[in-house]
Amino acid sequence: MVLKDVFKRPLLDLRISVTDRCNMRCRYCMPREHFDKNHVYLPKSDILSFEEIVRVVESLLPAGLRKVRLTGGEPLIRKDLYKLIEQLRELSPDLDIALTTNAQLLSKSILDLKKAGLSRVTVSLDAIDVDVYQAMGDTTSTPDAIIESIDKTLALGIPVKVNTVIQKGVNEHQVIPLISQMGSRNIPIRFIEYMDVGATNSWNLDHVMTGKEMRHLIETEFGLIQPIEPDHPSDVARTYHTDSGSVIGFIESISNPFCGDCSRARLSANGSIYTCLFATEGFDLRGILRMDATKEDITSAISAIWNQRKDRYSETRSEKTDLNRIEMSFIGG
Ligand code: GTP
Ligand code: 5AD
Ligand code: SF4
Ligand code: SF4
Repeated sequence: MVLKDVFKRPLLDLRISVTDRCNMRCRYCMPREHFDKNHVYLPKSDILSFEEIVRVVESLLPAGLRKVRLTGGEPLIRKDLYKLIEQLRELSPDLDIALTTNAQLLSKSILDLKKAGLSRVTVSLDAIDVDVYQAMGDTTSTPDAIIESIDKTLALGIPVKVNTVIQKGVNEHQVIPLISQMGSRNIPIRFIEYMDVGATNSWNLDHVMTGKEMRHLIETEFGLIQPIEPDHPSDVARTYHTDSGSVIGFIESISNPFCGDCSRARLSANGSIYTCLFATEGFDLRGILRMDATKEDITSAISAIWNQRKDRYSETRSEKTDLNRIEMSFIGG
């Protein structure tokens, strides 16, 4: 039984936030003045155990789930994350298990993650220039260290993609050097339009560089780029290649929304299902998980939530200016 929402969109992809904490303070996501020592993170008792997460995934496999993405905050902060991957892999040899990470802790954990059965890694990297990287991430780590851990991951045979958020006036001059660095490694890079998620990053349309503007910049340097057919209609990135074979994607949530085929659900670290990145409320699953719900009970609960889903926020965002938006670090990118 495949779950379908009001617009007949299936649930194929579950993005699982395993923690609301992060070891970076990207200005556009967790600005330090808001996420300081007074910020209240989820108490440990509220956070789903690995066993509880596995039960949710298990209940969705018969309903057509094909991909899980572990995210955060920063997922590698969660102790022994590889044990979750081991348990997820045991559920199915075919499940696509991806990790979105800032890669600060990747080098030391990648071997365990691979052995556990991780399929692939997406690294967030906003700049090659050390000053820009450190300013955007409010961090003392360096892009060189991140690239080293990417190389280590590739050497183990794990596919890597890179995600870069572009903010106008902040890092658009990093687009060309990033493509050159990643192209030489055959790593697809995806540029994300700065989005109006959360309530702490003072988002403003003036800071958004659109995919179209980025393509113009790229074509000035690399010549015309050619579109590549998407692997799946629900892919968030529209992908192109340069003449020399670099693969470049654009995630244009602001200028070119992709809600029509959105098959993504989100599970927050404290066990709520969110049917949209911009949802203002989640549906609690932890309650039934802790009341010993069976696999069938969990499938029915999620099915009831998904059946009434009507979200298409990116397509209607201009009508909704006053939402109580959930932070990306909480709901998971
Ligand atoms: P692949 O399976 O590798 O294509 O991954 P993905 O594109 O599903 O996941 P990834 O984490 O790489 O997503 C990239 C970025 O796109 C996220 O960090 C978000 O910024 C954005 N994004 C992902 N899903 C959605 C979505 O459903 N809505 C919106 N508006 N943005 C999304
Ligand atoms: N707009 C676009 N992307 C964002 N991310 C975090 N906050 C935003 C935002 N406001 C990205 C991160 C990471 C992924 C998880 O989401 O940079 O690549
Ligand atoms: Fe952390 Fe990612 Fe948010 Fe940066 S974007 S603060 S790395 S969760
Ligand atoms: Fe899906 Fe919501 Fe993103 Fe649209 S805005 S693509 S419905 S998560």
